[in-house]
Amino acid sequence: MAHPLIAPSILSADFAKLGEEVRAIDQAGADWIHIDVMDGHFVPNLTIGPAVVKALRPHTQKPFDVHLMISPIDPFLDDFAEAGADRMTVHPEAGPHVHRSIQRIKGLGKKAGVSLNPATPAKALDYILDEVDLVLVMSVNPGFGGQKFISSQLKKIEAIANRIAKENLEVIIEVDGGIDPDTAAQAVNAGAGALVAGTAVFRGGPSAYADNIRALRGAG
Ligand code: DX5
Ligand code: ZN
Repeated sequence: MAHPLIAPSILSADFAKLGEEVRAIDQAGADWIHIDVMDGHFVPNLTIGPAVVKALRPHTQKPFDVHLMISPIDPFLDDFAEAGADRMTVHPEAGPHVHRSIQRIKGLGKKAGVSLNPATPAKALDYILDEVDLVLVMSVNPGFGGQKFISSQLKKIEAIANRIAKENLEVIIEVDGGIDPDTAAQAVNAGAGALVAGTAVFRGGPSAYADNIRALRGAG
């Protein structure tokens, strides 16, 4: 099985030196930089806005994988694109018109993703799967790092992977939450092509990042 792309979530980085942290995970082999944007409304936590994304942009050339957990979503898509997002992922519950949000992201020239919460069925992808570049399966409830992987999501990953194969689509499945070397292997076996990890990448400080990323990538 192919090795997964690794997208460290900077939610677990040292926020007092984010630029340095982004350079460190870039050098340690991160494929994408996962940026968790939370509004204290759609999810019970507040994190990063477009100004921080813009400030981080000069620190790496790796793609910014921006996970938007904000509602309403549409008024902010242009801001994040201008700030330097390469990929933007939205939750169908975060706005009244997920199809419109996806079209806007693509219209801005960015890769578009749709994210499913643990209780959101794969069926939510009907009529949108062939429009997106990525499906982000949440294996924890969004809002915080360091939560436990919800194993029921493996079946969902499999079902989506089967559908992508059957319909011959070029859609990456990314899995987010509670990823460690064990759950990484499970997610990859179920069909994940990209893994988000905060805790498991940033534990041990910068000297451990490369080993941590390697341990996750070995999954598969
Ligand atoms: C949760 C975020 C995740 C989170 C992952 O809402 O979307 O990206 O930071 O953190 P870990 O890897 O610690 O579960
Ligand atoms: Zn995320």
